[in-house]
Amino acid sequence: MDRKKKLLIVSHAPSPNTLTLRNAVAQGADHEDIENVEVTVLAPLDAGPDDVLACDAIILGTTENLGYMSGALKDFFDRSYYPCLEKTQGLPFAYYIRAGHDGTGTQRAIESITTGLRWKVVQQPLLCRGEYRDEFEDQCRELGMYVAASLDAGLF
Ligand SMILES: Cc1cc2nc3c(=O)[nH]c(=O)nc-3n(C[C@H](O)[C@H](O)[C@H](O)COP(=O)(O)O)c2cc1C
Repeated sequence: MDRKKKLLIVSHAPSPNTLTLRNAVAQGADHEDIENVEVTVLAPLDAGPDDVLACDAIILGTTENLGYMSGALKDFFDRSYYPCLEKTQGLPFAYYIRAGHDGTGTQRAIESITTGLRWKVVQQPLLCRGEYRDEFEDQCRELGMYVAASLDAGLF
């Protein structure tokens, strides 16, 4: 039997709301109909290049802080960029941003770094912007489910 495909979720979740969103992504990815995908959820400070090199797709999540991605996710990229650069080109990825007001600075930053890495974005960025709304959870669940189901189906 083929080995399970590996979906890595690297998400910064410093508040109850962002923890709920991270759990929703993981819950969607863990959907019972998706059989051949193993999901790993890590905080950015606990994740590194070895995790990226071992995965088949990645979902990133971050808050926007001071117009940029969280320092924790930036640190993950700082530590992973060069060890991954030559080895993960084409890695399918998607991301979501929880931003109290804006989110565009974070989107630009993630686009810039992942363009440098030559990762392949497989879903429109999900921007959970403004006052917290319950629908963000559904959107995050769908994001996780979409990426995991596509990976399972061999679409990436
Ligand atoms: C120090 C700090 C800086 C922030 N900077 C921004 C920002 O530049 N843009 C933005 O949209 N939200 C900003 N926020 C709001 C956070 O994105 C938001 O509080 C965070 O995503 C947590 O969401 P929650 O309140 O729903 O838990 C900032 C929050 C803090 C604490």
